[in-house]
Amino acid sequence: MKKSLGPRAIIQPNPVLIVGSYDENNRANIMTAAWGGICCSKPPCVTISLRKATYSYGCIQHHRAYTINIPSSAHVKAADYAGVYSGRDENKFDALGLTPVKGEFVQAPYVKEFPLVLECEVLDVIEIGLHTQFIGEIKDIKADEAVLAENGLPDITKVNPFIYDSAGKRYYELGKFLGKAYSVGRKEGMLT
Ligand SMILES: Cc1cc2nc3c(=O)[nH]c(=O)nc-3n(C[C@H](O)[C@H](O)[C@H](O)COP(=O)(O)O)c2cc1C
Repeated sequence: MKKSLGPRAIIQPNPVLIVGSYDENNRANIMTAAWGGICCSKPPCVTISLRKATYSYGCIQHHRAYTINIPSSAHVKAADYAGVYSGRDENKFDALGLTPVKGEFVQAPYVKEFPLVLECEVLDVIEIGLHTQFIGEIKDIKADEAVLAENGLPDITKVNPFIYDSAGKRYYELGKFLGKAYSVGRKEGMLT
């Protein structure tokens, strides 16, 4: 029998998204966000939800732009740091030894050292409650050549991202390959 846990903000897993933005003085900042993900294919859009108390909130409202940077597992400490300390108090790029690069298509910085980057222009802002949702249209995706698969798109095993468990407040690496999507569940496949 299932036990009711009441209304809570839990799904498993959550992504670990490092959100890049400039403040009013064009100083680069990053913060960690787990409340987010792709929300439309055409136009390609992604969503992040931020509390107004974050420094990033005002930065994104000001420039109507942000980047999403996907860290590799090797960057787990930096990702956690960006989710603990505020750009209001310090320069997190400097503190972490990371390099901000100005976006090519939007007024937001991306993290040079992280393998996969989305440049996003704010399409809509939705007030939900504690969190405000920023829907961003993806203007470009940039990936290190070393993480690309033969089809020219990011190979998840090379990007080697990690996931967040908001229930246990822990980070995990990806597990083993299970099967091909849109394929393993097909009727003919189920016969074997
Ligand atoms: C794993 C993790 C996930 C987080 N996800 C979010 C989130 O989705 N939205 C949010 O507002 N804060 C989130 N935070 C907290 C912010 O990252 C944190 O408040 C940060 O200091 C804000 O930075 P800033 O003030 O420089 O913008 C998360 C923190 C961690 C460690």
